[in-house]
Amino acid sequence: MKFIEFKTELEAAKHVSEIIAKKIKSNHKINLGLATGSTPITLYKCLVEDHKHNHTSWANVSTFNLDEYYGVDYKSDASYHKFMLDQLFKHVDLKLENTHFPEPKGADFDKLIKSLGGIDLQILGIGVNGHVGFNEPGSDAHSLTRIVDLTPLTIKVNADKFFAGKMNEVPKQAISMGLASIMESKEIILLAFGKDKADAIAKLKKATTFKADFPASILVNHKNITVIYDKAAGSDL
Ligand code: F6R
Repeated sequence: MKFIEFKTELEAAKHVSEIIAKKIKSNHKINLGLATGSTPITLYKCLVEDHKHNHTSWANVSTFNLDEYYGVDYKSDASYHKFMLDQLFKHVDLKLENTHFPEPKGADFDKLIKSLGGIDLQILGIGVNGHVGFNEPGSDAHSLTRIVDLTPLTIKVNADKFFAGKMNEVPKQAISMGLASIMESKEIILLAFGKDKADAIAKLKKATTFKADFPASILVNHKNITVIYDKAAGSDL
């Protein structure tokens, strides 16, 4: 696992957006795995800027999101479909039929990803409790896409960030790619910004083997993963 610290979130996001733009330009067809939440927002802004100024075309890109809340209306502000549309999809020339989200019949998503050639690059965030996707502590290393229960901590964190603190408005379940699904990606970039993530990054640096109480530790077994974070997230020794 490679760790790279940048001074700021913006510098890190620019770096990753350049990697993605280069891959998009140099590949006839590319499958990107995408995350939602606060972490990738600056990255998506940089990618939109790149599309505007450098004309990187997303016409041959297919996207696969990590997760979606279970039972939400995909047009509502709570949904990750809407988040992706607002943050990225509607600003680039991506064909909406090439965007994919996990569906309640989970296994179909893993089959779909495989049948379309697998994920070339997966972008991940990390929860303060070490979740990746919505694979909460206790998740199985062999888990595939499925419906999962969110922990009270995740509900609280997401309520504060996206639901004006109203925990009762946060869906209690999600459909998430599993840990094994994520590990199938050919390359992974995990992003972490801010001091709230310092503990998780410190744990990831120390991890040597998978421990279910810190799901991100599965990533120590991946052959091509880079963890990119800002100074604040790297500040826990
Ligand atoms: C989102 C996802 C989650 C988030 C994590 C961090 O698609 O899979 O694992 O990456 O909860 O969320 P933020 O970025 O809001 O700190």
